[in-house]
Amino acid sequence: MHVYHLKSDIVEIVSQSISKNKTIGIVPTMGALHQGHLSLVKKACAENDWVWVSVFVNPTQFDSPSDLLKYPQTLQEDIKKLQSISDAIRVFAPSVKEMYPKKVTAQSFQFDGLDTVMEGAFRKGHFNGVGTIVLELLSLFKAKRAYFGEKDFQQLQIIRKLSTQFLLSTDIIACAIEREPSGLAMSSRNVRLNYTLRQEAGFIFQTLLQIQKNFHDNSIDQHKKMMLDACSKHPDFDLEYFEIVDEETLQPVETNSSQKTLRAFVAIKVNEVRLIDNIRLN
Ligand code: PAF
Repeated sequence: MHVYHLKSDIVEIVSQSISKNKTIGIVPTMGALHQGHLSLVKKACAENDWVWVSVFVNPTQFDSPSDLLKYPQTLQEDIKKLQSISDAIRVFAPSVKEMYPKKVTAQSFQFDGLDTVMEGAFRKGHFNGVGTIVLELLSLFKAKRAYFGEKDFQQLQIIRKLSTQFLLSTDIIACAIEREPSGLAMSSRNVRLNYTLRQEAGFIFQTLLQIQKNFHDNSIDQHKKMMLDACSKHPDFDLEYFEIVDEETLQPVETNSSQKTLRAFVAIKVNEVRLIDNIRLN
């Protein structure tokens, strides 16, 4: 498997792929790959001639230095996992200096309010960091398609906005959430939970399913109470937010009779690990 560390290598290989008329698919990741990432990679392999996976723990999207330090870095294991899908996958694993040669700092973007709610409200500057690195990667790879998981649905909407604002030619492909047997949405952070908590965390998805099932029968406040009550039965789990929003604008709605497509989003902290999940409601 070819692993590259320099942007100059990418520029050269991308120009080869363009001259050979090969389509490029890219899966941007921060490594610590799990089945969720691998499902994105498999989809990219099925839909493109050449597939790249970027592995870069992007410092500017972490709002807490300790979260950045604790983020798992497992490049050799990641490479093995990718090899088990296809040896033809190319990996881009740059250093921080390569991606931020001058200063490790994020650009400021205007995301029309998509970035001020939920994750944006709880993680100051997070989406400027995501926007900075994703813009850099999409500009570098000039891919036909880029793949992102719906677990980070707010991020997905922001990347779509970024793509429109900067007239990027890459199609943004959304991929369904992969779940552990308990129902917990797969995330690189899950390894920081012990087996018991990981099992227990299944209640989050079970509650979202209940809310989805009864969506039209209960009010928004009743749904909020349902999530609050579920969390109160699991004392290790602290609810940060539960919101029902219009999935286009990500702004909260007050009634469940909206003509818009609505989605519930939740963030819960357990043992310093933040778990997020979401579900479409109508
Ligand atoms: O979703 C992630 O893993 C990251 O936010 C991304 C998109 C790779 C940017 O660093």
